[in-house]
Amino acid sequence: MRIAAVIAAGTGLTIAYAPGATSYNGLNLTPQMGWNTWNAFQCNVNETLLLNTAKSLVSLGLKELGYDYLILDDCWSTGRNDSGYLVEDTVKFPNGMKSLISQVHSYGLKFGIYSSAGLYTCGRYPGSLGYEQKDADLWASWGVDYLKYDNCYNQGQSGTPKLSFDRYNVMSKALNATGRPILYSMCNWGQDNPFDWAYTIANSYRMSGDIYDSFSRPDPRCPCDEAIGCSFAGYHCSVLKILNMMASIGQRTQSGSFNDMDMLEVGNAGMTDSEYVTHFSMWAFMSSPLLIGTNLLSLSPGNLAILSNPAVIALNQDPSAGAAVRKWRYPVADTDEYGIGEIALWTRTMDNGDSVVALVNAGNASRSMNATAKDLFIDQGTSGTYTVAAELSEEFDIYDLWANRMGEAEAGQILNGTAEVVAMNSTTRYNSTRVSYADGLKANATALFGKKIGRLSAGGTLTATVDRRSLGLFRLRKVEGNKLRKRDEL
Ligand SMILES: *[C@@H]1O[C@H](CO)[C@@H](O)[C@H](O)[C@H]1NC(C)=O
Ligand SMILES: *[C@@H]1O[C@H](CO)[C@@H](O)[C@H](O)[C@H]1NC(C)=O
Ligand SMILES: *[C@@H]1O[C@H](CO)[C@@H](O)[C@H](O)[C@H]1NC(C)=O
Ligand SMILES: *[C@@H]1O[C@H](CO)[C@@H](O)[C@H](O)[C@H]1NC(C)=O
Ligand SMILES: *[C@@H]1O[C@H](CO)[C@@H](O)[C@H](O)[C@H]1NC(C)=O
Ligand SMILES: *[C@@H]1O[C@H](CO)[C@@H](O)[C@H](O)[C@H]1NC(C)=O
Ligand SMILES: *[C@@H]1O[C@H](CO)[C@@H](O)[C@H](O)[C@H]1NC(C)=O
Ligand SMILES: *[C@@H]1O[C@H](CO)[C@@H](O)[C@H](O)[C@H]1NC(C)=O
Ligand SMILES: *[C@@H]1O[C@H](CO)[C@@H](O)[C@H](O)[C@H]1NC(C)=O
Repeated sequence: MRIAAVIAAGTGLTIAYAPGATSYNGLNLTPQMGWNTWNAFQCNVNETLLLNTAKSLVSLGLKELGYDYLILDDCWSTGRNDSGYLVEDTVKFPNGMKSLISQVHSYGLKFGIYSSAGLYTCGRYPGSLGYEQKDADLWASWGVDYLKYDNCYNQGQSGTPKLSFDRYNVMSKALNATGRPILYSMCNWGQDNPFDWAYTIANSYRMSGDIYDSFSRPDPRCPCDEAIGCSFAGYHCSVLKILNMMASIGQRTQSGSFNDMDMLEVGNAGMTDSEYVTHFSMWAFMSSPLLIGTNLLSLSPGNLAILSNPAVIALNQDPSAGAAVRKWRYPVADTDEYGIGEIALWTRTMDNGDSVVALVNAGNASRSMNATAKDLFIDQGTSGTYTVAAELSEEFDIYDLWANRMGEAEAGQILNGTAEVVAMNSTTRYNSTRVSYADGLKANATALFGKKIGRLSAGGTLTATVDRRSLGLFRLRKVEGNKLRKRDEL
């Protein structure tokens, strides 16, 4: 990144101007991926669980897919010692945190820890407010690579963006002062509009109350429908609610600092397979961090197949680091038991010029859904002075990003350790250690593009049959039809 010092005209102020600005600390150019203890285990954490999970991340090929942070959430300490440093719970972690972290590193994984910008953590363990530098120094001395920083017991230091910014910035500065690269994941639940200010101090920031393992059930403890100005974020937020809260603020997602839609529930049994497919797809599509939140030691083949779809992860790890835009959303009559029923079209332009389309059917019946070229490319036609989008006279090959989903048999082999190494031409598996997503996308790596299923004619309509509570996820690649004509013109 090139930084130029410029003088803002007439102000006499020197401003660090960063063209194409990226991460404030150089970390997290694409969203973090990994595993976190909370959704599946809450406070029931220990060394054995973490080491077994580290082994599974490697043996299930998840590390090679990019899931390389192992994150210990709340409930790991017992208090502070006489010099004010946090002390780990030696019943849960008998060999100490430093030894655990060094073993996790030996698997090629990075280690994340948790605290709160408050007097206590949410589980009422000691928080870091007022102890920021001591805590950051201790974590750095242990080899910590990641901090999830919660918002409980914040002593009233919230309610305006400035109060929240200042409180979270103390830890940002403390982490930086350790000299160790530590990914800073703010968990202030979207309060005080972090999408407006967090990118200068953090690598990701939660934009809603806590997720729960439900696709659509409304819960009064998650009161906001809009992320902007939500002053009481709460918890028990459904997948559909969090997704819709992203519609207005996704525009703030950028390389180095991502809107965090909270950890994945895939595998925790509260949703159907197609609901988990939709949850995972949309979290990936919106460039949310992808943090697995289930027990890997009892993962089913079907859920491994969802978490392992390389064509979907490639959306998340695309160098464009953007979020999808909701083009339309309509209520439908076939509602679920909670009276929820809607359909939506989401689109995003990728780094290589491809367009990706999600047709979300959150209705209770299977239906034919239509995405017209006009809706898909509305932004291309309205930027600057209005022109008809060039895309309306172009053809696109349509790739279904779930058509090559790994089968139960192959997933079963991975789970029982009898699978082959990942082949370069695999359609179902990918090794991003060998070829990064950015390079694989440039090279048209088979596993990243799903399956070609048809063609969108110029100005036409993409029509797909989408099951109830499911989605269609497609990548559109321009057909290089103009090359011949150009040659003719010579
Ligand atoms: C560690 O935690 C796991 C998950 O909660 C639990 O099943 C296991 O019994 C615990 N082991 C020890 C030694 O505490
Ligand atoms: C407190 O913990 C820190 C970090 O582990 C250690 O360096 C220090 O000696 C401890 N102080 C006391 C009084 O035990
Ligand atoms: C600290 O911040 C500076 C400037 O923001 C950045 O260049 C540097 O990489 C950061 N260092 C660490 C260890 O985060
Ligand atoms: C939703 O669809 C399912 C499956 O067809 C059906 O069993 C259920 O009764 C429907 N729910 C409502 C509220 O109509
Ligand atoms: C999609 O288009 C078809 C054909 O015009 C129509 O029958 C169908 O109702 C449309 N679906 C929706 C959800 O608008
Ligand atoms: C591993 O899983 C595959 C596919 O499910 C199965 O055919 C095979 O028998 C299993 N092998 C062992 C050793 O469990
Ligand atoms: C991948 O390549 C191997 C050997 O080059 C070949 O046998 C196999 O059929 C190929 N698989 C696919 C899915 O193309
Ligand atoms: C992935 O690629 C790396 C680097 O080439 C290699 O060390 C590793 O064994 C591969 N993993 C799998 C599961 O194929
Ligand atoms: C990848 O595929 C696109 C679209 O078909 C094509 O334009 C491009 O040349 C291909 N790139 C490589 C390296 O094969």
